[in-house]
Amino acid sequence: MNIIVTSLKGGVGKSTTSIYLAAAGVDRGYDPVTLIDADPQASCAEWLELWPLAGITVVEAPSERTATRAIARAEGLVVVDTPPGNERITQSAVAVADAVVIPTRAGGVEYSRVSATIELIPKGTSYGVVICAARLGTNDLDAALAWWKEQKVEVWGVIPERVSIAAGPEARLSREGLENYDAVLARALRGWR
Ligand SMILES: Nc1ncnc2c1ncn2[C@@H]1O[C@H](COP(=O)(O)OP(=O)(O)OP(=O)(O)O)[C@@H](O)[C@H]1O
Ligand SMILES: [Mg+2]
Repeated sequence: MNIIVTSLKGGVGKSTTSIYLAAAGVDRGYDPVTLIDADPQASCAEWLELWPLAGITVVEAPSERTATRAIARAEGLVVVDTPPGNERITQSAVAVADAVVIPTRAGGVEYSRVSATIELIPKGTSYGVVICAARLGTNDLDAALAWWKEQKVEVWGVIPERVSIAAGPEARLSREGLENYDAVLARALRGWR
């Protein structure tokens, strides 16, 4: 099962989402769980070097060639973090995806970047957006949810803005983050098995 976390847009929450989805997979009993870090920035790899998570194997694959090979070799639940703005890596990863998770934000969103990402996904592959670092109860969030509904794009999750989730490599994963991302994982896994 390959879950590709991708967006051509940078800084939206791809790496955070990848880590939490992999951790939620371990909590659900998936074994093995492989996190493929296809971003040369290696944010996920660095994060898990500082805070290794039992049950997650990290594979660094910072190019189209290495990422394609790593995805083909990995077994079990596979989560792939991708670099921003790299159409080639994104395209070759989504080509072998069982599900594509597209992190985005509410407010100041460049919808065209998200649409361009969606256009790379093969027909028939399921995908959904996840609104990261959301401010609950704001007009921005309501507007974003209305927008995706109008576009007929599924929203697989709304992750609240939390210092504990933002903490990244400085801290352990937050319980609230894990609960929210578990729901996203459930949507991504729907129809699989
Ligand atoms: N739920 C959240 N609450 C608060 N901050 C968050 C949340 N999710 C992500 N962030 C923060 O947003 C920033 C960007 O997140 P992240 O690094 O995951 O994005 P990215 O899409 O992987 O970025 P890049 O395109 O550079 O790879 C980080 O500082 C992260 O801690
Ligand atoms: Mg990243």
